[in-house]
Amino acid sequence: MSRSSRAAVHRHGSQDLDVTVVDVADPAPGTVLVRMGASGVCGSDRHVLDGDWTLPSPTVMGHEGAGTVEAIGDGVTDVAVGDHVILSWFYPCRRCTACLSGKSYVCTGSRSEECLLPDGSSPLTLDGERVFPYLTVGSMSEYAVVPEAGAIRIPDEVPFDVASLIGCSVATGFGAVVNDAGVEAGTSAVVVGTGGVGLSIILALRLVGANPIIAVDLSEDKLAAAREFGATHTLVPSDGLAEEIAAITQGGAAYAFEAIGRVQTIESLPSLLAPGGKAVIVGLPPEDSPVSIDALALAESGKSLIGSNYGSTVPGRDFPRLAALYLAGRLPVDRLISHRIGLDDVNEAFDAMRRGERARSVIVF
Ligand code: APR
Ligand code: ZN
Repeated sequence: MSRSSRAAVHRHGSQDLDVTVVDVADPAPGTVLVRMGASGVCGSDRHVLDGDWTLPSPTVMGHEGAGTVEAIGDGVTDVAVGDHVILSWFYPCRRCTACLSGKSYVCTGSRSEECLLPDGSSPLTLDGERVFPYLTVGSMSEYAVVPEAGAIRIPDEVPFDVASLIGCSVATGFGAVVNDAGVEAGTSAVVVGTGGVGLSIILALRLVGANPIIAVDLSEDKLAAAREFGATHTLVPSDGLAEEIAAITQGGAAYAFEAIGRVQTIESLPSLLAPGGKAVIVGLPPEDSPVSIDALALAESGKSLIGSNYGSTVPGRDFPRLAALYLAGRLPVDRLISHRIGLDDVNEAFDAMRRGERARSVIVF
C-alpha cells in the first residue's frame, strides 16, 4: 500500500516548483520510509531549478532533510520505527573499495546522483508517471523512502529544523574545514560567499580556533551575519581584495574557502593565500565550468587547490558528531535558520535566495 504525499516537484525547463501530491511506495527491502520533519532550501536545489546541472525529471526536490522513521523494509537493522534520522544525499553502497577503506564519500557504487535506490528503482510516482527523489532524498515532501545507509539516527532532542541543516550545509562546511582542509587553531582563513554553506564554514572555523576569520560577500546583510557567526573581518569583493587580505593576515591566508560556486571566484582563490596555503572549492559551479589557474605560480608558491564534495562527510560518523556538538552548545546551527516556511512558500524562498537574501530557509512540515 502506497501513500499520498504533498511534495515540491520540478520539471526540466521550469524554474518554479509545483507543490502537488505524489505517491510514495512502501519501503522495499533495505530501505526506510521517513515522515519528514524539516527540509532546508539549499543552493544546490537552486542549481537544479536554474538548469545548471543535468538530472532526471520530474524530480521531488530537497536533499537536506530530517524526520522520523515511519516504517522499515525487510532486513533493515540500523534504524527502527520512531527513530529520528538525518538523511544523507550521498548514500554509500558499503561494498566498493572506497567504502571498505572508510572513504564512503568517494563511493563508486552509490546511485544517489542518478536519484535512484540501490536496486535502480524510484519510490515515487505522480499520476502513474515515474518521479525521482533529488539525490535519492527528495526531502521537500511529507514522506520519503531512502536507503538504510542514507538515514542516520540522531538523538530525539535535536529539533528537525536544526537536524535538516546538519544533513547538508553544516556537514559540508564543517567537513571542508575539519575533514578536507584540516585547519589548525590560530591559523588564518578566508571564506568567500557567506550563504548557508559559507556561514557553516565560519561556524566550524570558530570551533577549531582559526584566527583571523575573514568573510567576503557582496551582501552587507550576509556580512553582518558572518560577524555574528565568528568572522573577525568582513570585506566586500574588490580588485584590491588580495591586498586587503594580505594586510590582515601578514602576507596571505593559510586557508581559503569558496562557497558560491562561481568560476571567477574559484580562479582568484590562490591569490588570497600565503605561500604554502590551501584553497578549497566547496561551492559547486554549473556543469562544464573549467577554471584557469597559473600553474607555475601555484607550484612555485607551494599552494594547493582542492575540491571538497559534501565535506568528505562520513554520515554515520559525522552526523551524530555534529548533533552532539549542537546539543553541547558548541555549534549553534539554529542561528543559521533565518526563515521557517511552509511547503507552499518554497518558490518564494528560491527567489529570495537568487536575490542573495536569507541565510537559510527551512521548510517545516
Ligand atoms: N562575490 C562574493 N559573494 C557572492 C558573489 C560574489 N561575486 N556572488 C554571490 N555571492 C554570495 C551571495 O551573496 C550569498 O551570500 O554567495 C552566497 C551564496 O549563498 P547561497 O545562495 O545561500 O548558497 P548556499 O546554499 O550557501 O550554497 C553555496 O555551495 O553547496 C554549494 O551548490 C551550492 O554552489 C552552492 C554553494
Ligand atoms: Zn545542499
